[in-house]
Amino acid sequence: MKRTTVTAALPYANGPVHIGHLAGVYVPADIYVRYLRLKKRPVIFVGGSDEHGVPVTIRARKEGITTQQVVDRYHALIKDSFSRFGISFDIYSRTTSATHHKLASDFFRRLYDNGKFVEQESEQFYDEQTGHFLTDRNIRGECPRCHAPEAYGDQCERCGATLSPEELINPYNAESGNPLVLKSTKHWYLPLDKDQPWLEKWILEEHKEWRPNVYGQCKSWLDGGLRPRAVTRDLDWGIPVPVEGAEGKVLYVWFDAPIGYISNTKELCDAHPELGSWETWWKDPETRLVHFIGKDNIVFHCIVFPAMLKAHGEYILPDNVPANEFLNLEGNKISTSKNYAVWLNEYLDELPNRQDELRYVLTANAPETKDNDFTWADFQARCNNELVAVYGNFVNRALQLTKKYYSGIVPECGELNDYDRQTLAEFDGVKEKLEDLLEHFKFRDAQKEAMNLARIGNKYIADCEPWKVIKTDPDRVRTIIYISLQLTANLAIAFEPFLPFSSQRLREMLNMEQFSWEDLGNTNLLPAGKQLAEPGLLFSKIEDDVIKQQTDKLAATIKANEEAAYQAPAVKDTVDFSDFEKLDIRVGTVLSCERVPKMKKLLKFRIADGLADRTIVSGISQWYEPEALVGKQVLFIANLAPRTFKNGLVSEGMILSAANYDGSISVTTVEHDVKPGSQVC
Ligand code: 2FM
Ligand code: ZN
Repeated sequence: MKRTTVTAALPYANGPVHIGHLAGVYVPADIYVRYLRLKKRPVIFVGGSDEHGVPVTIRARKEGITTQQVVDRYHALIKDSFSRFGISFDIYSRTTSATHHKLASDFFRRLYDNGKFVEQESEQFYDEQTGHFLTDRNIRGECPRCHAPEAYGDQCERCGATLSPEELINPYNAESGNPLVLKSTKHWYLPLDKDQPWLEKWILEEHKEWRPNVYGQCKSWLDGGLRPRAVTRDLDWGIPVPVEGAEGKVLYVWFDAPIGYISNTKELCDAHPELGSWETWWKDPETRLVHFIGKDNIVFHCIVFPAMLKAHGEYILPDNVPANEFLNLEGNKISTSKNYAVWLNEYLDELPNRQDELRYVLTANAPETKDNDFTWADFQARCNNELVAVYGNFVNRALQLTKKYYSGIVPECGELNDYDRQTLAEFDGVKEKLEDLLEHFKFRDAQKEAMNLARIGNKYIADCEPWKVIKTDPDRVRTIIYISLQLTANLAIAFEPFLPFSSQRLREMLNMEQFSWEDLGNTNLLPAGKQLAEPGLLFSKIEDDVIKQQTDKLAATIKANEEAAYQAPAVKDTVDFSDFEKLDIRVGTVLSCERVPKMKKLLKFRIADGLADRTIVSGISQWYEPEALVGKQVLFIANLAPRTFKNGLVSEGMILSAANYDGSISVTTVEHDVKPGSQVC
């Protein structure tokens, strides 16, 4: 039987994992691995944290701690969250481990010794005062297109232009502010152009079965022509390049991270001799290698890493790379740096014991073929209308009725009628159907299939109405309950790869410690006379306040980001004092304030101005209840030419308000009450 090595992308240890990671990589990988285990096929599930690269160093600077502290913190947090969420890794290690440093270093050295790299000098930006070469993102300067003063080396955030650092005018180090110079530096390149022919044959001809998004992305890379890629960097965080004269250089994070899958397998097998040598999981042609990743990682897993493995010479190549597209959140892009996400650790704390609810929704809505959106409203609807109202309701009815009528003992099955036979027949092909979908990485459809079984069960018990029939035909009820219980037991098995927590709870209620995937479709799983355990609710409703808390939290993050991104508008052209003096700004007391019929935006004020009083109309009704302004002292322009509105209303002046970063309006007022008509000077 073929062995399978399943890997899930190593998340950067620069923050917690979020629902985008889960939907894209970890939930599908976990479903697949749980399925293979249920099929009793030899499999290992390898994960770990990606602790090198620039993202972790940026986080360290942001938080004012060392890079090591950052990776220690987030590795522990991520590992713990995955475990609480039931992502059933056989190992979750890290790329700062000694095993990995040695393996990645030896890997590089072997390629180096066998002449697989091209050495090349190139000019890179360098900070002479700090002695550092800079990455594109750490370089800033004036945008050559729109002349924004602080464009990044790879992009201008003002005009959106994609840039390269050499294009920036007066480039400087984003952190130190020091000016930069170009300095020559040597790096090692993987000459991917030489790999082009075999990669084309291997992917485009021999792996037509890969998902269209994966195949399509590979094709477009290959059609564009592969170019050599640098696999080293001038950085002080990472695995030192094991070559003389390479001091101050480290392996590029995308060179070492995928080797992390191998290192972590070695750690796993060293600790578990029963798994055999780590090498059989990576070098034996009888082993299938499957990488679960997000779409931004496709080129690295389908082109670069295979080229590295091939250059090494001893390794197998991936059999499949079922990459998902992206998950958005309430219509916006999920962003670690902007803190805009549903973080797994927070979800686990704030919605305790609801792992399967999130697993269910992320799979039901998985971005398998296109980007998808997660909304809390959809989460609530799917939980309440599907898990609670269909699956949970059916199970609860079957178990409660068994308890009520038969003291929790599975009754004898009587004679079957046509409806019974028809219902049972629906379970006939279910195992094959589920297996076919799971083998082809169609997790969304597979889970739908399992849910369909719950719908069949729910409909069966609702149609049969045993609670009514009991009064007239108690024998018939035995059959209905017997069948319902068999369907329930099948559901526990069918949902096992998807919803492991509730499947386990359900098996406990059914006293079904022993079970086998091969039993799926068997409708005599629970023998008559078997005592069931005390029934409990499989799922409970998600209340509105729970959802509101979550949407409020996201809204607060958006607001905080907008606030942080706010830049005061440029100051207008200078005016002479004499021009300023022409404006007569005064303080008035609001005598009355009311909405204007048919003109939604307007508020009509009567202002005491120390003279004859006046009417001022202001377009701020969205921001104030009129009553709240009565009695307030406001600033207004007293000598503005009157303005007549469509409905004949005349405004004799203008109330001064501040426009906030988000467009909201705040009326200006004075610190102490003053006489109406006082001039602003
Ligand atoms: O994109 C990322 O989050 C990377 N840390 C994934 C690395 S996958 C593998 F190569 F380790
Ligand atoms: Zn620009």
